[in-house]
Amino acid sequence: MELEIKSGCSGVDWKTVAETLKLVGMAYYDSDVHKRAFEASHTSVFVYFGDQLIGFGRAISDGVYQAAIYDVAVIPEFQKKGIGTTIIKNILHRLSPCNVILYASPGKEEFYRTLGLRKMLTGMALFKKAEEMKGKGFTE
Ligand SMILES: CC(C)(COP(=O)(O)OP(=O)(O)OC[C@H]1O[C@@H](n2cnc3c(N)ncnc32)[C@H](O)[C@@H]1OP(=O)(O)O)[C@@H](O)C(=O)NCCC(=O)NCCS
Repeated sequence: MELEIKSGCSGVDWKTVAETLKLVGMAYYDSDVHKRAFEASHTSVFVYFGDQLIGFGRAISDGVYQAAIYDVAVIPEFQKKGIGTTIIKNILHRLSPCNVILYASPGKEEFYRTLGLRKMLTGMALFKKAEEMKGKGFTE
């Protein structure tokens, strides 16, 4: 499978980003919101199959010692082909000096474990839409 991996946000179809996030069951917003979030991120990775955007991910970071990964998604028909692994490895490579944290969707922990991430015992979060996070691995 001939894939192209692009970093940076030029030429990205943000509508496809929003639609992909919706399709895979992740939080999604208006296209412009994703554009602003990805463009403000330290590292963004987009995977193309020909002209088709099939997966992406991003990380916010100080670029020195701390980073957090968000919005990792691969469209369903291209999942389980190593693309998600490629996205994460690419991001980790670009953030090699940094500690990296992320929130794994329930059921995706093993995927991240194989990439070297481990569970945190004391991770805490404050979500704007806390109601929506119920049943997704958060406790009261
Ligand atoms: C999580 C997600 C990004 C992973 O992307 P992916 O491209 O399917 O990931 P990979 O193919 O690299 O790895 C996924 C699994 O497929 C397996 N795999 C990889 N290449 C494979 C191949 N050629 N044949 C069969 N299986 C393969 C991997 O071993 C891995 O197994 P695991 O689930 O037991 O860890 C993707 O499933 C997704 O978008 N899910 C919905 C959104 C989501 O939950 N995102 C994560 C938010 S934290």
